[in-house]
Amino acid sequence: METIRQQLAGDLAGAKTPQDVENIRVKYLGRKGIVTLLARETDFSKLSAEEKKAFGGKLNELKAFATEHIAAAVEAAKQSGAAVQPQRELDLTMPGSNRMLGALHPITTTQLELEHIFQGMGFTVLRGPDVETEYYNFEALNIPGDHPARDMQDTFWLTNDMVLKTHTSANQVRALERFGAPFRGIFPGRCFRYEAIDASHENTFYQCEGVVVDKNISVANLIAVMKTLLSEVFRRDVKVRLRPGYFPFVEPGFELDLNCLICGGKGCATCGDGWIELIPCGLIHPRVLEYANIDPDEYSGFAFGLGLTRLAMMKYGVRDIRLFNSGDVRFYEQFAVTM
Ligand code: PHE
Repeated sequence: METIRQQLAGDLAGAKTPQDVENIRVKYLGRKGIVTLLARETDFSKLSAEEKKAFGGKLNELKAFATEHIAAAVEAAKQSGAAVQPQRELDLTMPGSNRMLGALHPITTTQLELEHIFQGMGFTVLRGPDVETEYYNFEALNIPGDHPARDMQDTFWLTNDMVLKTHTSANQVRALERFGAPFRGIFPGRCFRYEAIDASHENTFYQCEGVVVDKNISVANLIAVMKTLLSEVFRRDVKVRLRPGYFPFVEPGFELDLNCLICGGKGCATCGDGWIELIPCGLIHPRVLEYANIDPDEYSGFAFGLGLTRLAMMKYGVRDIRLFNSGDVRFYEQFAVTM
């Protein structure tokens, strides 16, 4: 019986699948199994009472041992899932499994690139709050409560009279108050407007504001910085046009338009007439400098509000602004970059 017990233990150690274990069960405990036959074929009448007791006891122990260990082996085989996974040889020539890496959002990539370019020109990168006071978003930018220019920006008003900042210009006076003149900084950030959404309008989008304040700043400085910026971003010559634009916080004010890079200026769903309104800009209005406690007789400056989302659309040829906030991984995957 000791030999049988060892043989059984050895068989179980080699069992890999539930089927292996079932074969072992039949071999030992089946109708014609080794243990079963041993019990059946022993002629107990030939044994003395003591021998019967000793032999019977050992036999029961063996049965119990077999039953218990086979049941445990069935469980173990089930757990390891060996039944559904055929044994595999280790093949060192197989290609490794691919791991999905996250990707930076195309707007983030564009923003980082802008930050890099501006830092190279000595600009500080700052970030203001998304929930803004009416003062910084409008008042301090020379847009008083009754001014019709407020209607230029459809605003999300909060119940506590604060607003979701409608433009990154809201950061201008905050930054100038804090750092004074001379100053050179950009404020990339998220903006919110109560817009009717279509291929080129979103209620949530990104801008990158830029402000330079120093002595003798003129339109020539503004144009030089814009030219440097665009040639670095697109790494090629782009066509731009400057036309007058009205914003209460700049004087004179301009619209810098970019010749559409998607259609090449022919006109498409994204640009309309071949030009994308990309960089509203101008010389900072003296009233705004005064709000920031800077003397407009001593200092002047320029400001621009670059459409970061639009820039990303141009850069990557994205035709529909709604894709950016869609949460559709198939869209984002196309911009996977390693930084
Ligand atoms: N903040 C303005 C807008 O969002 C753009 C702008 C910024 C214009 C800076 C002039 C100077 O419409």
